[in-house]
Amino acid sequence: MTLHQRFVVQPPCAAPGAPSPLTATGRPLRWGVVATGGIASKVTADIALLEDAVLHAVSSRSADRAREFAGRFGFAASYGDAGGVPGYQQLFDDPEVDVVYVTTPHAQHFEVARAALAAGKHVLCEKPFTVNAAEAAALIDLAADQGRFLMEAVWTRFLPSVNRAWDILASGELGGIRWVQADLGFPAGYDPSSRIWDPAAGGGALLDLTVYPLTWALGALGFPASVSAAGELNADGVDVQNAVTLSYEGGAQAQLTSSLGALGPASATVAGSGGWLRTGGGPLHNPRELTVQPQGGELRTETFDSVGAGYTYELRETTRCIQAGLTESPTMPLAETLATMHLLDGIRAQLGLRYANDSV
Ligand SMILES: NC(=O)c1ccc[n+]([C@@H]2O[C@H](COP(=O)([O-])OP(=O)(O)OC[C@H]3O[C@@H](n4cnc5c(N)ncnc54)[C@H](OP(=O)(O)O)[C@@H]3O)[C@@H](O)[C@H]2O)c1
Repeated sequence: MTLHQRFVVQPPCAAPGAPSPLTATGRPLRWGVVATGGIASKVTADIALLEDAVLHAVSSRSADRAREFAGRFGFAASYGDAGGVPGYQQLFDDPEVDVVYVTTPHAQHFEVARAALAAGKHVLCEKPFTVNAAEAAALIDLAADQGRFLMEAVWTRFLPSVNRAWDILASGELGGIRWVQADLGFPAGYDPSSRIWDPAAGGGALLDLTVYPLTWALGALGFPASVSAAGELNADGVDVQNAVTLSYEGGAQAQLTSSLGALGPASATVAGSGGWLRTGGGPLHNPRELTVQPQGGELRTETFDSVGAGYTYELRETTRCIQAGLTESPTMPLAETLATMHLLDGIRAQLGLRYANDSV
């Protein structure tokens, strides 16, 4: 049985005919955002669209950057590192923050999310959840002890297009699934000051990109029986590119490619004994089209809208779960996040990819 059949429950906002993800599902939640980089800006713009979200506070290492970000989006409070106390800790000490969105580089996810949970906050943490499975397990245990919601922000899982893909696979229209091919990459241009290339930030293609091709393999085929991986490491020891083959009992396979050196089609194809499905109309992490070719049938393309920048669906699910008193999302369960981190640990071992977080 594949993963989507075992675990994935459609978030209500992604079901056909569902209300907009912007529609309130309960009491307003007060958000705190940690760090002021690229994804913080994009997702904050989507948080601001939700009817039941309040932008309460933002933190940064720099008080000036926090203040600028707060002004730009309308947060009530801003915190920067001061007197030896990190800005994020001041944000966690603010009793008016309900839920924290962690957007630091990967290597700091553990430290920041741990402090947030310890302070009693609910946490939405960017992908990859942590650098390794040991860190992930510790956060999951702490969230359980604290009775707080915790989720990895794999927004792709919550999109209407992706839920429709799972429905097509579950319908049997494509028969038994035999293979998946998925890629994500772009020529990042070497810049040692960028987190993408910095070993201390958890840099490299695997931790940054592979979660998205993997989402398609997991949804179509589940977790594999075995994995083999090859990759190219640069002189700093981060992977510029990797190719991963997942093998399943019964013979099915998934081939995943992630690259910081090449611009690929950023698409996923799922092929079965009765036909194939391919993402399009945007990269595989936010497809606006699904092209479906049933064997002997007509090729068709289904198109989808995405509200905001597409993060609104994971934000609705986070909000809904917290309002309902859930400590995890059935669509992005913590057991799958942990299994994913174990899978990535295994791939890293094959690539010879190690980070400072591994030794603490
Ligand atoms: N879901 C998605 O679509 C998506 C897209 C892109 C990235 N991400 C994930 O989001 C995370 C951040 O990515 P990004 O592209 O936003 O990176 P980014 O633009 O480099 O921003 C990261 C921010 O974290 C803070 N920071 C930098 N170095 C730090 C350190 N050593 N310790 C603590 N904080 C530090 C900085 O903010 P301050 O200076 O304000 O502290 C920086 O602006 C990554 O884990 C990435 O995988 C997700």
